[in-house]
Amino acid sequence: MQVARDVSLAGKTTLGIGGAAREFVRVATVDELREALATSEPVLILGGGSNLVVGDGGFAGRVVQPGMTAIAYDGDEVRVEAGVVWDELVAQMVDEGRAGLECMSGIPGLVGATPMQNVGAYGQEVSDTIVRVEALYRETREVVTFSPEQCRFGYRTSAFKATSRWVITSVTFRLRRGESRPRYAELTKALAIAEGGTAPLARVRETVIGLRRGKGMVVDAADPESRSAGSFFTNPIVEPAVVARLDARFGAAMPRWPQPDGMVKLSAGWLIERAGFTKGYTVGRVGISKKHALALVNRGGASAAELLALAREIQDGVRAQLGVQLELEPVVV
Ligand code: EPU
Repeated sequence: MQVARDVSLAGKTTLGIGGAAREFVRVATVDELREALATSEPVLILGGGSNLVVGDGGFAGRVVQPGMTAIAYDGDEVRVEAGVVWDELVAQMVDEGRAGLECMSGIPGLVGATPMQNVGAYGQEVSDTIVRVEALYRETREVVTFSPEQCRFGYRTSAFKATSRWVITSVTFRLRRGESRPRYAELTKALAIAEGGTAPLARVRETVIGLRRGKGMVVDAADPESRSAGSFFTNPIVEPAVVARLDARFGAAMPRWPQPDGMVKLSAGWLIERAGFTKGYTVGRVGISKKHALALVNRGGASAAELLALAREIQDGVRAQLGVQLELEPVVV
């Protein structure tokens, strides 16, 4: 285990923002992870850095990056260690004819981070196929196995979010062989298949990556609109009364996804635009992506303070204009 000092974190995040870590360690095994955690320093676990806003002061402690990358099979079950690059796993599963992850193609980051915020896209969420999560309890450094119920998955949340007690070490998925059965309207339309129809996994993967690229949601050095942390706000889940109030103003044009519990999920991107923030809106070195209103972009050399000020301006604007509170989606350090 090698500890590096004063390592810039900007280069380790997709936003390219943030100060330095006093110490930085990449670990290759669970035992090394235990060793890395045995420090009196504060510890930050860093995955792919795609959902992270690091402050300008950096991190006065030890940043640990999981680098365990084994993949093991047991019938339909695939146990994947936390340090595997998510999209490489998706590509491999598609190649092997295993369905369940293909709609989540092109998402940056590492496998270990996906259960934390229950990553999802185009009608699939990791919680649909996760059968087990192994996580190290920081206090005792024991590895504990979580059932899906114990993970308490919800929309962009889980038992692992907003606590630093656990470090995910592996995720086990059940991925059956077969074609994809996409459920997201935008995707079935792009695939030109009927709702409820099926499509080859590779075609779904390509189509999803194409859709994401069009929204600046594929990390690409050649696309400055992709220098972001993906969606910067979660889609708000509101009472039907809020929907009725907004409908009275905007008609039925507002996108919505009714939830099983009677609440309604709205589109944060749509609300942001309705509150008067246009795609491409720029303040100094930060702005709203030209391709998607939900992504905030570093237009070059931005500070975390500027980015968070823009986020606050958008939250304040949407609250004042539309009476809806937007919550940040990335983790802020
Ligand atoms: N919309 C706008 N303006 C925009 C963008 C979207 O009005 O600039 C409206 C459109 O009406 C569109 C609707 O919002 O039909 C939904 O947009 P989109 O399909 O792009 O999805 P999203 O709600 O913006 C969510 C996830 C994404 C995921 C996509 C696709 C969240 C916070 N975001 O975005 O996940 O890729 O659906 O499934 O749930 C992420 O979490 O970082 C992320 C990128």
